[in-house]
Amino acid sequence: MRSKIVAGNWKMNNDLAGTETLITALKEEIQKPTVEVMIAPAFTNLYSAFEALKDSAIEVIAQNMHFAENGAYTGEVSATMLKSVGVKTVILGHSERRAYFAETDETLAKKVKTVLENDMRTIFCFGEELEDRKADKYFDVVESQIKNALFDLDAEAWKSIVLAYEPVWAIGTGETASPEQAQEVHAFVRKVIADKYGDEVAQGVSILYGGSVKPGNAVEIFSKEDVDGGLIGGAALNAGDFKAIVEAL
Ligand code: G3P
Repeated sequence: MRSKIVAGNWKMNNDLAGTETLITALKEEIQKPTVEVMIAPAFTNLYSAFEALKDSAIEVIAQNMHFAENGAYTGEVSATMLKSVGVKTVILGHSERRAYFAETDETLAKKVKTVLENDMRTIFCFGEELEDRKADKYFDVVESQIKNALFDLDAEAWKSIVLAYEPVWAIGTGETASPEQAQEVHAFVRKVIADKYGDEVAQGVSILYGGSVKPGNAVEIFSKEDVDGGLIGGAALNAGDFKAIVEAL
């Protein structure tokens, strides 16, 4: 049985005081969830968040990570540094990293390898741009993103991989993929994995949906067979909304 997960990607939001305030509210709102719950604060707030949540049901995760163990990479953060502040799971390949920081499939493949070498887990993001969707090329795009970054892995490695389908045109836009659109891509990606690794591996991979998930649409999106939860942006910054989305799964 694959994991059901709701993860909040806080992006570049909340200073230390704001992080502490939101975490206090989340601890109150989300006490005994029936699914895995994660939050991804900014790097500067990870240790404070980890300390505040270490005895809770909420896991603190990172929004990114460099593939090198250390060295001349100004501004970057390594797996060892993340593990030293209690982080075991890292979001990789978010469309904003791909767009604004030129992250390629090749770079992401190196980052995934580093996650595995450090016995960590990744939420690996993929998704098409609006023009790909309009041109009916979205299957080709998501297939290449998955294959280029993840298909050198062995079957065992997939136990440490969570996928997140985030159609770029739905991120932060209020334009949500329909439950049917989400299910279509999730099922397609699961088949792409099954064709290479077999059904047992494919059925064990959690595939989250991200892109304008809100309390009002979460139940219907999460009801789809191949949707195993959500990667939440804006709504994760409000404790009540995030709780409602967690309870929708
Ligand atoms: O990583 C999740 C994020 O990209 C979705 O953002 O604000 O559309 O929920 P949002």
